[in-house]
Amino acid sequence: MNEEDRYVFIAEWYDPNAALQRRYQLLFYPKDGSVEMYDVKSHRVFLRRTKYEALHKEDLYVGNKINVFSRHLHLVDYGDQYTARRLGSKKEKTLAMIKPDAVTKMGSIIEAILDSGFLITKAKMVQLSRTEAMDFYAEHQSKSFFNDLIHFMTSGPIIAMEVIGDEAVASWRKLLGPTNSSVARSDSPESIRARFGTDGTKNAAHGSDSIASAARPERIFDAIHTKALELEFFFPTSGGRGPKNTATFTQSTCCIIKPHAVSEGLTGKIINYILDGGFEISALQMFTMEKANAEEFYEVYKGVVAEYIEMLSELCSGPCIAMEILGPNAPKSFREFCGPADPEIARHLRPKTIRAQFGKNKVKNAVHCTDLPEDAVLEVQYFFKILDN
Ligand code: RTP
Ligand code: MG
Repeated sequence: MNEEDRYVFIAEWYDPNAALQRRYQLLFYPKDGSVEMYDVKSHRVFLRRTKYEALHKEDLYVGNKINVFSRHLHLVDYGDQYTARRLGSKKEKTLAMIKPDAVTKMGSIIEAILDSGFLITKAKMVQLSRTEAMDFYAEHQSKSFFNDLIHFMTSGPIIAMEVIGDEAVASWRKLLGPTNSSVARSDSPESIRARFGTDGTKNAAHGSDSIASAARPERIFDAIHTKALELEFFFPTSGGRGPKNTATFTQSTCCIIKPHAVSEGLTGKIINYILDGGFEISALQMFTMEKANAEEFYEVYKGVVAEYIEMLSELCSGPCIAMEILGPNAPKSFREFCGPADPEIARHLRPKTIRAQFGKNKVKNAVHCTDLPEDAVLEVQYFFKILDN
């Protein structure tokens, strides 16, 4: 092409002030990493071409949510054939699920997922009821192993995730390995079932096994495919609630893996660190915070902590992982395990704490944890009762 190389997308942004869903044409210039936006309706310039270093070409595909100057934009379509051909052809999403036998190994499984280049865009720990499990595995109801399978799948919590990647359906199943964990150990020793599975039924994880286009056929630019039904089961987009989260709201405390740590790929490592520290994760869910919610959640810090404004924008800068944590003497012991708010101080005084290990600075300090024991259950409720609604 003669003109300067650029990619074009259609992006949606929910404007809370006008209570309107706005549509923009978003242009990205890879040469200098600049963005430009036009309002689709009025054809007016919304953002003059500006350099924006936090945005990378890898983030640009339909279905992804990106952050441009603190606005959460949802990329809903490609803006031209060139962009669709160059950036859209191979991206798929699929359901990846950690089964009950491997939930204690969730940190390492998440690490394996991220190390293989997948992006986790949704995550939720749920407990399936018998009816839900039978519904999910309806295709197997006449099989001899059906009862064992349903018993197993309802024996404890599971973690459902939406993952995005190149040819994600097939490549996630390849990473999973053969159905039977023993076969996996001999035929594909690096696979997830080989590393974390037990036997033919208890095999650590699940992946959708076929592609059905999620796109309406007339949307020629929408090249993301998915086995839409399985993702819909856990993450309904049109009505319904999906399986319930597993929060207990008793003697627990709240921990949030902050957006910077999630985007640096630290989710699995931090989870492992928490579990190795002797704590239990009894609920887990990915959220993307709106500013109004972040303000509500951080209300106690307003006017108290100097970095309040920066803390707010960090919490809204991308998806975060909220967790309910259980453990002996929980709110207090977990807070000590997180360490001083400033990672520099933490590295000097408490080098084994989470913030010493994974934090960068006072704002990007890897995790939030509840400060006051009396607020712990309230904070857990904020995510798992109020926001998960
Ligand atoms: P999944 O659906 O869970 O990703 O596994 P898959 O495609 O590799 O295997 P599939 O044939 O769909 O079977 C679903 C699940 O049923 C359990 N199973 N047990 N004991 C047995 O012979 C047996 N066979 C299958 C496994 O948990 C399997 O993942
Ligand atoms: Mg299957």
